[in-house]
Parts: sequence; C-alpha cells; structure tokens
Amino acid sequence: MTKKLACIILAAGKGTRMKSDTPKVLHNICGRPMLEYVLDLVKGLKPEKTVAVLGFKSREVRKILPKNIRVAVQKQLIGSADAVKSGLSALPGFKGTVLVLYGDMPLLPKESIQKLLKYHSDNQPKATILAATIDKPHGYGRIIRDQYSCIKGIVEEKDANDFQKEVKEVNTGIACFDALALRQALAKVRPNNRKNEFYLTDVFSILYQKKERVESVAIEDVNLALGINCRVDLAKANSIMQRRINDEYMKNGVTIVDPATTFISHGVKIGADTLIYPFTVIERNVKIGDCCQIGPFVHLREGSSIASKVLLGNFIEVVRSQLSTGIFAKHFCYLGDSRVGRNVNIGAGTVTANFNGLTKGATVIKEKAFIGSNSVLVAPVTIGKNAKVGAGAVVLRNTKVSDNTAVAGVPAKPIHRKTR
Ligand code: UD1
Ligand code: CA
Repeated sequence: MTKKLACIILAAGKGTRMKSDTPKVLHNICGRPMLEYVLDLVKGLKPEKTVAVLGFKSREVRKILPKNIRVAVQKQLIGSADAVKSGLSALPGFKGTVLVLYGDMPLLPKESIQKLLKYHSDNQPKATILAATIDKPHGYGRIIRDQYSCIKGIVEEKDANDFQKEVKEVNTGIACFDALALRQALAKVRPNNRKNEFYLTDVFSILYQKKERVESVAIEDVNLALGINCRVDLAKANSIMQRRINDEYMKNGVTIVDPATTFISHGVKIGADTLIYPFTVIERNVKIGDCCQIGPFVHLREGSSIASKVLLGNFIEVVRSQLSTGIFAKHFCYLGDSRVGRNVNIGAGTVTANFNGLTKGATVIKEKAFIGSNSVLVAPVTIGKNAKVGAGAVVLRNTKVSDNTAVAGVPAKPIHRKTR
C-alpha cells in the first residue's frame, strides 16, 4: 500500500549570492516567481499536506502561497536540517512519506519526482535520495558508499577530502523519507562541519549507522535539478524554461521562427497558426488568438488581449489593451490602455498618449477606423466607426471623433468630408 505523502518546501534562505533585497524564491523565471513552479509541481503530486518553510522576508513570500499550504517560519537560518525540523513541526503526528523539495529548483519535472516516490514506496528504505552522476561535481554534496555499495552518507564540497572530491555521484538535494525515521535522525544532527550548520544531509549517515537502508534514484539530467544560487543560474534556468515554454506552443500549432530570441512568459495563451517573428517579448496575462502575425521586435505587455488575424509588425508596444480581429499595425507604434475595434488600420508611428503625468487615460478606436501615420491620440479620446485621422494629426484629449468623419491637423479638426 502506498503511504501518505507530505511535502516540505525549503524556501527560507536569503539567497546571499543573488545580492538582492528580494527573497531568492521570488525572483522571476519567464515572468513568474521561481517558487510558483515548485508549487505547481507539488500540486501535481497531490500530497496529503504541504508545508513551506519560510525565513527571510517570510511575509512577502507568503503572499504567493495558495491557502492550502501550511507555513512554518524558521527563526534562525542555521541549516537545512533545522529547516526541515521546522517543516515537520507543522505536520504533527504525520506518519508516511515526507518529500523534501527546494524552492529554488524550478526546473524539476513531475516525472522525476514520481519516479523517486515510486521507488521509495516499492522498496521501502528509510530514505531515498534523488541523485545524479556528473563529470564536474564541484559544489554538490558527494554520495559516499561503503564496500557493499550501500549509501553511507553525503559529504559536502567544503568538507570533502581529495578522494571524496573525485566522486561523481552527487546529491541533488531532493529526497524522500519515512517520517518517523526522519524525525528521529534529525534530533541527532549536529553542526559539525565547516559551515557550522545543521545539515539535512547528515540524516543519511545517521540512518546508516543505525543500519537502516538509504537508497538513491538517478535523475536523467542534472540540469533538471539546477538550484538557483546566483543570477548566472537564474539566467540559465530562464533560458531552459523558455525553451520548454516555446516548445509547448510549437507543439500546439504556433510558429516561432527563432525560439532563442522569443521571450514568452509562463501562462500566455496563443492560438494556432499564429506566427511569431524574432525579438518578441510577450509578458504574463497576455492572450493572442489564431492566425496572427507578431513581430519582429514586438513587446506585448501585461493585460493585453489580441483577437484573431491581427497583424503587429515591427517595433510595436501594446499594454493593457484589447485589440479586435483583423487589426493591422504594421510599423512602430504604441498602444496603451486602448480598445480597438475590428479591422482598424493603425498607421506607422501612431502613439496613444495615455499618461498625462498623473493619471492614465483610455483610447477607444471603433471598427474600421483608419489612423494615419504619425498620429498622436491624446487620451481619453474616442475615434468613431469608419472615421479617419489624417497623417500627423494630434487628436486632443476628451475629443470624440464621430463615426464616418475625417479629422486632420494639429489640433485635429473635422475636414468636412464624408468618408466611405
Ligand atoms: C545542498 C545540499 C547538497 C546538494 C545541493 C544541491 C545540504 C547541506 N546540502 O547544498 O548536498 O548537493 O544542495 O543543490 O543540504 N535552507 C533553509 N534554511 C537554512 C539553510 C538552508 O531553508 O537554514 C534552504 C535554502 O533556502 C535552500 C536549501 O535549504 O533552498 C539548501 O541550502 P543551501 O545552503 O543552498 O545548500 P547547498 O550548498 O546548495
Ligand atoms: Ca542551493
């Protein structure tokens, strides 16, 4: 019978090497705090209970946690063993399997963890380590085995001797434990190492000394267990995650001409047969319909929704705007806080002047309107159905250009010519 599962996510660390005031786990990867990827992973495992262990700026981190996740605050950051102990204090009386995850490992796929849990449940050791074998193990805790190849313990890089440093089998940091054995072993951990910290990894040698079994499951690719420690790691993880996200769109029928120069945040929706040219940045909470053409050099910012068959060409920025079907905006322009109707043509160089220094104003452009090149629409402003704005016009704030009317000039005035 499979045992009950509880997850402990370690997210207390400050992330000293990030050199940041923001807690490490709140740094973004593809437009989203890295901790949220770990929360997704946990959700997919459907554990009985989950505890997040917080420390540095815990109030800020707590804000992104779903309600069903318990919080344990580690008062002093004196090591990962102490962090897990804090986590267990929020799981009183829990019997079953405890999975320890790290808030700074956003790339871990669910499948690797399921494999670890299955092994643990099939073979019932007291602990199972997610291990990896790598050529350059520098920085990782090394897995030390006895003459029968049983796991004796883990030695951290800083505490390893020259022979131990040669070991290429490393600890990813992720492991699952029998809850009771973990509690008992944690009570015996002492800070007898170079960093003077309570190491979670000492639990394994404590179990070995008690003649308990510790086993390991190998992860195929150690990059999947990349822990983010500094901003170089952050950039590396970002590019791996971006490639995953882009691959998913391509599988779903979106053409991405150059995935390496296309930056799409997590959770963006893009319809089939949309084509995205290079150097395009699409932020979170953006929706794009089918059969659009986006880019090159387009920046779609938060809260924008683009319907189908919209063409946004070179150097276009859109923010908090709704663009309807069939809009053409082919060359450099800025659309902010705008609602644009169907089949509108936005000429080159059009700017919605949405900010007066104090507040933001809205621009409404109704269907089939034609906005001439280099127009400035000073919000709040409305351009009627089938209306025309002449090239170089400045349409002043609070103007309502009526349907079927043409305006031109600075400031723009009707030019008494009915448009077709
Ligand atoms: C850890 C492992 C090492 C492994 C490596 C993989 C330990 C002792 N070592 O080393 O064997 O190869 O990960 O990346 O665990 N934390 C707290 N509270 C604390 C201290 C740490 O919550 O008081 C959290 C950190 O936020 C972090 C995690 O525990 O998420 C690991 O701590 P860290 O200091 O980063 O350990 P590593 O040196 O990376
Ligand atoms: Ca780490």
